[in-house]
Amino acid sequence: MDRNIIITGGAGFIGSHVVRLFVNKYPEYRIICVDKLTYAGNLANLADLEQRPNFVFVKADICDLDKMRSLMKEYNVDSIIHLAAESHVDRSIKDPFTFARTNVMGTLSLLQAAKEHWDTLPEKYDGKLFYHISTDEVYGALELTHPEGIDAPFTTKASSGKNHEAYGDEFFVETTAYNPHSPYSASKASSDHFVRAYHDTYGMPTIVTNCSNNYGPYQFPEKLIPLFINNIRHRKPLPVYGKGENVRDWLYVEDHARAIDVIFHKGKVAETYNIGGFNEWKNIDIIRTIISTVDRLLGRAEGEDLDLITYVTDRAGHDLRYAIDSRKLQKELGWEPSLQFEEGIERTVRWYLDNQEWMDNVTSGDYLKYYEEMYKDR
Ligand code: NAD
Ligand code: DAU
Repeated sequence: MDRNIIITGGAGFIGSHVVRLFVNKYPEYRIICVDKLTYAGNLANLADLEQRPNFVFVKADICDLDKMRSLMKEYNVDSIIHLAAESHVDRSIKDPFTFARTNVMGTLSLLQAAKEHWDTLPEKYDGKLFYHISTDEVYGALELTHPEGIDAPFTTKASSGKNHEAYGDEFFVETTAYNPHSPYSASKASSDHFVRAYHDTYGMPTIVTNCSNNYGPYQFPEKLIPLFINNIRHRKPLPVYGKGENVRDWLYVEDHARAIDVIFHKGKVAETYNIGGFNEWKNIDIIRTIISTVDRLLGRAEGEDLDLITYVTDRAGHDLRYAIDSRKLQKELGWEPSLQFEEGIERTVRWYLDNQEWMDNVTSGDYLKYYEEMYKDR
């Protein structure tokens, strides 16, 4: 094998798309997927790759430093693409310690295990890379200076056809100061700092990327889009936080995976790249779009399920607007999103409706308890 790459969190939403892309595109690379299989990890997300000769799955906790050390040695790992994390903001509000443990201590264990292994090699850090996947949430929240929307100053193919809008004048750039608000984003910010500290202190080759909200197949239905698709299907209430005015910047998950591929191969060590498609949506507008898409695909009257919208108590510390400026990545490395939002959302809704068995499996057991607990006081 030309390379031995650990991809952590590969049984989760984004990780499974990254693993699939790398296993299929690079048969000469051994892909070692390391995942603890928490509630969010699911081997069914990787079922099509099981028999592939360049794919290895290891069930392990990234916080287990000895295990990470032995994996680095056993596979003589030259690169790590690190996605494993606790990823849901609402869960972080209820249980911040789990987020500090996995996102901060887990990242630190991986960094240390990589450093120790690479330090024993004659070539040391040559040809090595620790690539850390982070989020736009570390930058905090932007103002909604144009609540009705203005023509966006920049667009990409991902920008919605109907909705070429921006809701504020500012965007997150790579030099925007960190200002996380939730326990989730605080833990991700802390892990980003540790990654950069391992570069600045020990000279370890690292890259950090910060991406906007992803959507697409295999996302756990605690997140807005799959949760609402499933609820509409079952005609359950749609819990919209606050007034539904918060703005998120949505990117199709396979476009994120493609960006990771480009950055892994062409990115400059010690750099940060923001990933996003200039595709801002107010929650309530995206929710209406999902409702009409699900209704149409299920043969219901379009908009019939609008009355499922139920405004509930807002998320504590709810960030108002995220908007990523990804021009550095576009200019320096030539990445561009490939899928327009309307096409992406249609594909996504179809996938969840066609894969009801997947949905039933992940929403059985503990999920119902989670759902009741999470929404009972709202
Ligand atoms: P996810 O919750 O769907 O998947 C996380 C995966 O990590 C799961 O497979 C889980 O089993 C695994 N995991 C959790 N704790 C672990 C541990 N201690 N040891 C080993 N494995 C563990 O998350 P996602 O949405 O796919 O996000 C992946 C990464 O991308 C995260 O780092 C997240 O912060 C980042 N990110 C996500 C988004 C988004 O919109 N989803 C956007 C930008 C960045
Ligand atoms: O911006 C990137 C981040 O996007 C990632 O780092 C996170 O891992 C990912 O979970 C996501 O965070 P958000 O909090 O933006 O995603 P979520 O799907 O939880 O919520 C999207 C918006 O919808 C947010 O404004 C809250 C709102 N919402 C969410 C849920 C689950 C509701 O109104 N009702 C809901 O039931």
